[in-house]
Amino acid sequence: MRTHYCNGINENLIGQTVRLCGWAQRRRDHGGVIFIDLRDREGLVQVVADPDQAEAFAAANECRSEFVLSVEGVLRARPAGTENPQMPSGKVELMAARIEILNRSEPVPFPLDEEDIAENLRLKYRYLDLRRPEMLARLRLRHQVTRYVRRYLDDAGFMDIETPVLTRSTPEGARDYLVPSRTQPGHFFALPQSPQLFKQLLMVAGMDRYYQITKCFRDEDLRADRQPEFTQIDMEASFVDEEAVMGIAEPMIRGLFAEVLGVELPNPFPRMTYADAMHRFGVDRPDLRNPLELTELSDLMRGVEFKVFREAAERPRGRVACLRVPGGAQLSRTQIDQYTQFTAIYGAKGLAWIKVNALDQGAEGLQSPIVKFLTPEVLQEILQRSGAAVGDMLFFGADSAKVVNEALGNLRNRLAADLNLLEGDWRPVWVTDFPMFDYDEKEDRWTSTHHPFTAPQSAHLESLAENPGAALARAYDLVLNGNEIGGGSIRIHQEKVQEKVFAALGIGDAEARDKFGFLLDALHYGAPPHGGLAFGLDRLVMLMSGAETIRDVIAFPKTQKAGCLLTEAPGVVADKQLQELGIRLRPGVGADVQNP
Ligand code: AMO
Ligand code: AMP
Repeated sequence: MRTHYCNGINENLIGQTVRLCGWAQRRRDHGGVIFIDLRDREGLVQVVADPDQAEAFAAANECRSEFVLSVEGVLRARPAGTENPQMPSGKVELMAARIEILNRSEPVPFPLDEEDIAENLRLKYRYLDLRRPEMLARLRLRHQVTRYVRRYLDDAGFMDIETPVLTRSTPEGARDYLVPSRTQPGHFFALPQSPQLFKQLLMVAGMDRYYQITKCFRDEDLRADRQPEFTQIDMEASFVDEEAVMGIAEPMIRGLFAEVLGVELPNPFPRMTYADAMHRFGVDRPDLRNPLELTELSDLMRGVEFKVFREAAERPRGRVACLRVPGGAQLSRTQIDQYTQFTAIYGAKGLAWIKVNALDQGAEGLQSPIVKFLTPEVLQEILQRSGAAVGDMLFFGADSAKVVNEALGNLRNRLAADLNLLEGDWRPVWVTDFPMFDYDEKEDRWTSTHHPFTAPQSAHLESLAENPGAALARAYDLVLNGNEIGGGSIRIHQEKVQEKVFAALGIGDAEARDKFGFLLDALHYGAPPHGGLAFGLDRLVMLMSGAETIRDVIAFPKTQKAGCLLTEAPGVVADKQLQELGIRLRPGVGADVQNP
């Protein structure tokens, strides 16, 4: 129906007849002449309807915002002084000879050119929200990313292979989404949390290099960077080690940023061990744009008089550390109180602090609720280790390492935001040498840090059972500006090793067979050494587009409550459907309950 998209319209076409199709973004009646900004996916063109063209003028008169139009006419230069340098088509306008109203629109529920529209409204009318150029640009960027990635992986010999969505539970540590089976009542499929097990089976099958851009499903608590249904760029290769996997993934990300954003990322990406990251930043996904670092004080605080610090330093898995904030001595009591409340969210029982007013007057130069509990020698050592200067503030955490790391790690991010400390635009970092296992204090047992198919480093293989806490994994994450954008590992390909790992996790033979019997079987039949990784596409595009949440880079996302405001999913279902599935809802749940 059209000869051009709006972005193809410029002064080279002056005098030619063109036909455009799109939406009326804005209509202005200038007493006698009507202007309509016509919008399509690619741009905007100003249409002029003049009373001389009676039919076109009548249609323009009838036209309202978001009416769908087909406009034909001759392109002409705008009169001098009325050009719009902001618009690519700003030097020309289309003199309408014919305007056809292809469809009408009710007044839209929110103005499409406004910035602060309530997100619930945007999600309910997502098809209108997506008409906004900002949203369109994000989806376009997403498309450019997947296009680049497909081309890169195709060229690197990776085969795109689909894996099932109706499957068994895949262990990535989240809750499963379940789908009841009609043909086998009482049995359930689980939606995949990732294609992990299938991609390993594809390696056993000899596919050598696999990739897939695919949906994953995790029923977990949602945050700005998490969706229950999200997309991974998933890959796996055989006969590779860590270097080979990173050697494929890293140039892909570098090439992607160069091509799509025109950004040069460092070459190579820096690397950091997990232990280093936790020590220096309290998190395993440090934002390297943030110059603040933690200082280790655990060893120093053993045996000191101040009970809070001593006990934390002496308990198993305890930690005492401080965070130095250059220039932070100017923070007010109110601000310190706010930060104390902030760290309490992460379980901190207090936030001790020292303001450094002078360095050469001993305790006199320090303002703090805790100096009276510490000896001059200890104070001196704190100042020295942290590199404190006059005008600085030190914040302290003393608790289990987990609480200290979370409290000070998050405080570090908060301070960077409040005090505008971030330096540089893009700071990728590989985090390597993850521990094999995390200790779950609540359940009093070891769990996999990554997943139970991740290979241990060979040096730790023999001591897995005796000392699970010390075992390191052949696992790596790619972190960008404080976001985990991808992660993976070299997998276990030998049954004996897999058995050892299950044993360390307290997974018995029966449980292992029940859950992953098919994978264990596959390991008997010539499984090659293999490994891989998966990037979170939504997170990657969120960062690249500067969007604040991953919802903004997903065409039809879910809300924080994991529902879809547009389709009102999840919904209740008819009794008959439940009967077929052999399901009866518990009293108070289901058909009599309104959709959330
Ligand atoms: P992992 O669980 O680390 O690894 O996931 C890989 C990447 O997926 C993204 N991601 C998410 N994005 C949005 N919403 C979520 N709920 C969500 N959860 C994860 C993150 C993360 O880095 N099978 C392994 C990969 C492998 O070992 O090859 C896996 O799924 O960016
Ligand atoms: P208190 O002796 O409880 O008055 O605490 C003295 C200072 O230590 C106060 O500034 C508290 O905020 C701080 N504090 C108490 N417990 C902790 C802790 N676990 N970690 C860090 N600081 C703490």
